[in-house]
Amino acid sequence: MSVLKNKKILLAVTAGIAAYKTPLLVRELVKKNADVRVIITPEALEFVTPLTLSTLSGKPVEWEFTKEKGQWNNHVEMGLWADLMIIAPLTARTLSAMADGYCDNLVMATYLSAKCPVFVAPAMDLDMYQHPSTQNNLQKLIENGNHVIPAASGELASGLIGQGRMEEPENIAQFIEEFFQKNQPLQGKKILVSAGPTYEPIDPVRFIGNHSSGKMGFEIAKKAEEMGAEVTLVAGPTSLSIDNQKITRIDVVSALEMKDAIDEKFDQQDVIIMAAAVADYRPKEVFDKKIKKKTDEMSIELVKNPDILKYLGTKKSDKFLVGFALETNNALEHAKGKLLSKNADMIVLNSLEDEGAGFGKETNKVTFVTRDQPAQSFPLKSKAEVAEDILNFIAQNLKKNA
Ligand code: PMT
Repeated sequence: MSVLKNKKILLAVTAGIAAYKTPLLVRELVKKNADVRVIITPEALEFVTPLTLSTLSGKPVEWEFTKEKGQWNNHVEMGLWADLMIIAPLTARTLSAMADGYCDNLVMATYLSAKCPVFVAPAMDLDMYQHPSTQNNLQKLIENGNHVIPAASGELASGLIGQGRMEEPENIAQFIEEFFQKNQPLQGKKILVSAGPTYEPIDPVRFIGNHSSGKMGFEIAKKAEEMGAEVTLVAGPTSLSIDNQKITRIDVVSALEMKDAIDEKFDQQDVIIMAAAVADYRPKEVFDKKIKKKTDEMSIELVKNPDILKYLGTKKSDKFLVGFALETNNALEHAKGKLLSKNADMIVLNSLEDEGAGFGKETNKVTFVTRDQPAQSFPLKSKAEVAEDILNFIAQNLKKNA
C-alpha cells in the first residue's frame, strides 16, 4: 500500500505550458489513494481546465479569493489542511513571488499560509532556467525549507533542447512518495499516548489532582501522527486542544476511567506511551454532596489506584511499552526500578530537579532508560523536540524488533 494513502495533497498549478500535464499528476496521486485538492492561478486557466482537474481530483478547483455571494475562499484553511503542497509547474514569476513573499493570488496566499512541506517542480525555457536570478531564487526557496524537484532535460516548448521541462508526473509522485517514506518511520503503526493529569473526585466540587498540563503527551501524539502512525490520545482533564483530526482523542477524568479507556484500545496497538501523570491514590469515598466545613481538621481516606503501566506490562506481549518517570531524587535508580517492575521497554526519565523540565513548561530534559542500552541523556529541548527524540528512538527499536 502506498504511503500516500489518505495523505492530503494540495496541488497548485501556475501558468506554464507544462500545466497540461497536471491532470496526469492528479491521476497519479489519486491512484495512490491520496486526497488531492487543486488550486490554480487565474492565468493557468488558459492552459488546463478546472473541469478536468476537479473531475480527476473529485473536488472543486479554486482560483479566486471569494466564492459565489462574496463568500471568502479560505486560503488559510487550505494551507493548514494539506499534509504536503506541490506547486507544479512552477513558473519563473511564481518562483520570484515565493522568493520575495509577494502575494497577488490565491496560490501565493495559500503558500504563505501553509505549514506543511512544500515541493516545487519548476518548468521554464532553457535560458530562463539557467538565468542567475532564477537559480538564486531557487536557492532562496531551498533555504526557506522548500523542496525543489529539479527540471528535467529534453525538448522545450520553444524548440530548444536542454534543462527546463517540468519533471514527469509519475516522477513527481515518486518524489513525494519517497519523501513521506523517509519522514514517516512510523507508517502503519498504531500508537496510544496517555497525557495530562487525572482528577480523583472527593465530592462534586473538589478533587485530588496534579500539575500536569498534558503538553508532553500532546506533543508526542502530534509528532507520532506526523511520523505516520495512527494515533489514539487518551487525555486527562486539560485545556489543550488538538486540531489534527486524524488523531482519535478520548477524554477521561480519573485514573479508573483512564485505565478502562486504554484497556479497551490496548489490543490493537503496537506502541503505548504513558506520559500521563496518573494519581496513585483516590478518595475511598466520593461524597455526592459538597462536604461542609464543620471541623478544624478533616482527613480523607485514600485507596490505591491501579498502576496502569504495570497492568499493561503484565499483558504486553510484543507491544512496545513506554513509561515516563517523574523523579525528584535518585532519578536514574528509580527509573531503572520502574523499567523492571512495570515490565516496560523504555522509561523516559524527567526530573523536577532539572530547571525547565517537568510539569507545565514548554521544555523538558529527558534520559532514556532501557534494558539493553546505556542510559541516553538529552539536553533541555522543547517538548516537540523531545517528542521527536522519543519517537525516533522507538522507530529505531521497533525496526530492530521487526
Ligand atoms: O503534562 P506536562 O505538564 O507536559 O508534564 C509532563 C509530565 C511531567 C507529566 C511527563 O513528562 C511525565 O513525567 N509523566 C509521568 C508522570 C508520572 O506519573 O510519573 P511516575 O513516575 O509517578 O509514574 C511512572 C509511570 O507509571 C508513568 O508512565 C505513569 O503514567 C505510570 N503510572 C503511574 C501511576 C499509576 N497509577 N498508573 C500509571 O500508569
